[in-house]
Amino acid sequence: MRGILCQTLLGFALSSLSSAKVIFQDDFEGNLDQWKIQACPGGVEVSTDSARSGSHSAKFVVHDDDTNATCPDSPTENPRAQLSSKGLFSDGDDYFIGFSVMFPTGFPDITDWFMFFELYGPPYNGTPSMALFVSQDNRITFGRDASYNRDTIWTGGEIVPGKWRDIVLHVKFSTDPAIGFVQIWEDGQRQQLVGGDGYTVFYRTLNPELNYDGTPNAVILNQYRSKDTRYGPVTVYHDAVKVGTSLEEVSP
Ligand SMILES: *[C@@H]1O[C@H](CO)[C@@H](O)[C@H](O)[C@H]1NC(C)=O
Repeated sequence: MRGILCQTLLGFALSSLSSAKVIFQDDFEGNLDQWKIQACPGGVEVSTDSARSGSHSAKFVVHDDDTNATCPDSPTENPRAQLSSKGLFSDGDDYFIGFSVMFPTGFPDITDWFMFFELYGPPYNGTPSMALFVSQDNRITFGRDASYNRDTIWTGGEIVPGKWRDIVLHVKFSTDPAIGFVQIWEDGQRQQLVGGDGYTVFYRTLNPELNYDGTPNAVILNQYRSKDTRYGPVTVYHDAVKVGTSLEEVSP
């Protein structure tokens, strides 16, 4: 009897292990080999300044002139440094994407658009449909693409210099606006969104004309900002990136 019970419990444990899986992760304890680096030299480096987990994180330092005019690896005329994963997300996929971000002491008052994370893919035709920004009152926000008027569907708490923020996005990737959706957690708390039932917003997360020509979307950690701002050098840290099939397994 006890043997049978043990076997049954073991069976449950094994089947829940095999159904849950992390498909991509980086804690930045080693090198940046999993990523394509798009930055000026020194724009992204593994750093021991601060870490959400382990002892290292990815440090993004962007100067006002870190653009394609000065650095061939910087893709556009707006200053940026970024890490782009391999393609991970296709039409129909359902994943939790967790990561932590920190804005250090000295982070400026934001006066124009300032992005730090996106889920994106070719043809890369404009504002992404899934991106995180710092707003002009220095809050973390989630914004959509031009077909949704670049609206903001989540506004999180104000930035506290030096405090790590844990963010999890649950995304159903779909070209069908009735199927695609986004849900958000911050520091383990389910976040209220604008639209839908207040927690789940259904929309076209993959748009063939914007971010989905059939090539899977990637996780992009970055610091990307308007060229019309002159903050001087700005630093942002990212850590503990995980993509998986449950909230628990991608939370730090
Ligand atoms: C830089 O990128 C912009 C698009 O943001 C493009 O219009 C311009 O031609 C590029 N310039 C160079 C020097 O590659």
